[in-house]
Amino acid sequence: MAVLCRYTISRVLFLTLLSTLVAAQDDQKPFDCHVTIGEDAYDLTGLKGEHTVTRESNMPPSTIHDAVTFNLCEDLAKSSAPEEDQCPPGTRACLVRTSRKNGHDDRVISVIPVANSSASAVSYDPISSPKGLQLTFAGASYPSVVGSEPSPQHFHLNLLCGSSVSDVNFVSYNGTDLYLDWEAPAGCLIKTPPGEDTKEPTDGGDDGSGSGEKKEEAVGSGLGYFFLLFFLAFVAYFALGAYYNYSTYGATGADLIPHRDFWREVPYMLRDLVSHICSAVRPRHSASRGGYIAV
Ligand SMILES: *[C@@H]1O[C@H](CO)[C@@H](O)[C@H](O)[C@H]1NC(C)=O
Ligand SMILES: *[C@@H]1O[C@H](CO)[C@@H](O)[C@H](O)[C@H]1NC(C)=O
Repeated sequence: MAVLCRYTISRVLFLTLLSTLVAAQDDQKPFDCHVTIGEDAYDLTGLKGEHTVTRESNMPPSTIHDAVTFNLCEDLAKSSAPEEDQCPPGTRACLVRTSRKNGHDDRVISVIPVANSSASAVSYDPISSPKGLQLTFAGASYPSVVGSEPSPQHFHLNLLCGSSVSDVNFVSYNGTDLYLDWEAPAGCLIKTPPGEDTKEPTDGGDDGSGSGEKKEEAVGSGLGYFFLLFFLAFVAYFALGAYYNYSTYGATGADLIPHRDFWREVPYMLRDLVSHICSAVRPRHSASRGGYIAV
């Protein structure tokens, strides 16, 4: 029974450790503006910051004003607008539709989170001519027309390779899919250094701090795994040893401990070791004291 109990405890401990490790790694990561497609890499960090594009449509007697505010690399910050006129936290692009009418106050009629911030909400495809990158963010669900069921929203950005950053162009919005065009150097491929294909090309970018952190993390989890393995080996040794003693000799209680005589000796061996080390250090002191006395 004692063996079983010990086995169960160690297994529970192991599973807890393992799930903590896995949970730490499978975290829902926010999109960080580093894009890798096969061996091609793009660094969009230069485009960070909030940008707003607008368009207007005449719908007499009102004018409908659409404003899309987006930040590719970070969540949108809270603005001074009323809470219900803003997208929820975790949004990268927010479309606000306002109705304007002569002689009346502006009225916000729709607030649509068109892009979520988690990396899993983002997909990308290279564009071949002209060269560039198409980014697609998935967003929340919102009715596409008055009276319809909410449908999933998508934010598409055609980022074309250009030598300088142009203004963003509002291309279209049909109730579910919002399209923007933008030209910037970030839409151009970063050259991956030869022989570095297998490494994350983000290392090739000018942003060295992120990759350093990543390496440190890898070292940390490597050490973690080492200690985990060490611990597991130790547990397995005691579990198997105890089981062996139990099944072969019918041992119980303290007799279950494998190599019991050895483990009983361990404290004395440690004491001997410490006293050896101490005696190796001490003579120097006594020698110098002796020398002092001699003088
Ligand atoms: C985006 O976030 C909203 C809540 O903010 C959630 O309801 C929706 O399912 C998310 N969509 C995706 C594709 O992650
Ligand atoms: C909007 O356009 C996309 C493709 O660009 C299409 O898949 C979708 O069905 C359209 N939605 C509506 C409501 O027309």
